[in-house]
Amino acid sequence: MLIVTGASGKLGRKVVENLLLHVSAGDIGVSVRDPNKVSDMEARGVRVRQGDFSDAASLRHAWAGAKRLLLISSNAAATGGNPLQQHATAISVARQIGVERIFYTSQISSSATSLFPPGRDHAATEAMLAESGIAWTALRHGFYAASALMMNRHGFDAGRLDGPEDGKVAWVTHDDLAAADAKLLVGSKVIDGPTAPLTGSECLGLADLAHVAGEILGKTISRTVISEESAKANAQAAGIPEGSVAVMLGYYRAARAGEFAVTDPALSRILGRAPQCMRTFLRSNL
Ligand SMILES: NC(=O)c1ccc[n+]([C@@H]2O[C@H](COP(=O)([O-])OP(=O)(O)OC[C@H]3O[C@@H](n4cnc5c(N)ncnc54)[C@H](OP(=O)(O)O)[C@@H]3O)[C@@H](O)[C@H]2O)c1
Repeated sequence: MLIVTGASGKLGRKVVENLLLHVSAGDIGVSVRDPNKVSDMEARGVRVRQGDFSDAASLRHAWAGAKRLLLISSNAAATGGNPLQQHATAISVARQIGVERIFYTSQISSSATSLFPPGRDHAATEAMLAESGIAWTALRHGFYAASALMMNRHGFDAGRLDGPEDGKVAWVTHDDLAAADAKLLVGSKVIDGPTAPLTGSECLGLADLAHVAGEILGKTISRTVISEESAKANAQAAGIPEGSVAVMLGYYRAARAGEFAVTDPALSRILGRAPQCMRTFLRSNL
């Protein structure tokens, strides 16, 4: 059985939809904190069980019979939680119950020296996987296109993107990543360790996003560089939690250092087509 964690989230939900194109519903199980959020999947014949990364017993039950497990990385850090503790619990349960291979949603910034806090957590999780004795694949996702929208939606509306100096990013959509992840999950050929970067095929910085969004919305959107201190003060004044502010500032630093400006043909090869470009994504979502 294939088990998908985080199936109530944006990525996990799309992965399950894609898996259903490849295997029958009875071969898929999902592990979610709140089964009510995925009642539609249960109605289609997918096994739904309650599982929380903070509760090993719940995972043992939710993952029973798992051959392959998609461990969708925890977003606990944004709210002050400990994603590494959660990932350690998940990997330990997978070992106890005999999971054959873990697929982990990593990111292209995965490095012990990344300037992006989640990049350091991904590297630490990949190290745990390497030591676990279980076969593993780290799906090195590019930066979500949806994150570009989330971080800048207010700025697009206001007609000005204020933020520290940034750098180019090979944004990639949840749709493309979910389709590729599902193919890798069901594939007979497996990748051991990290995949090649699964990214979009063009790199855009904030000035580029302002330009493209301005054309789509039919207005001028300016890009103004402000200091990190001002950006931090603005975020705090808006009530953004401390963990999220650290991630936001880390994004600017890592982008300046070029950590997200990586394109690679791997995603196109897996999908058998070009990944969606940012202009198309923004046109559909702005
Ligand atoms: N590549 C990138 O650029 C990028 C950007 C942002 C985030 N990410 C990472 O990618 C992950 C998936 O992205 P997404 O867009 O699908 O995020 P999302 O919509 O926020 O989904 C997160 C999922 O994790 C589940 N979850 C949270 N805490 C959990 C716990 N303690 N035990 C079990 N499940 C838990 C959530 O369940 P509930 O429905 O119960 O809350 C939800 O299903 C994120 O969690 C984050 O680590 C990557």
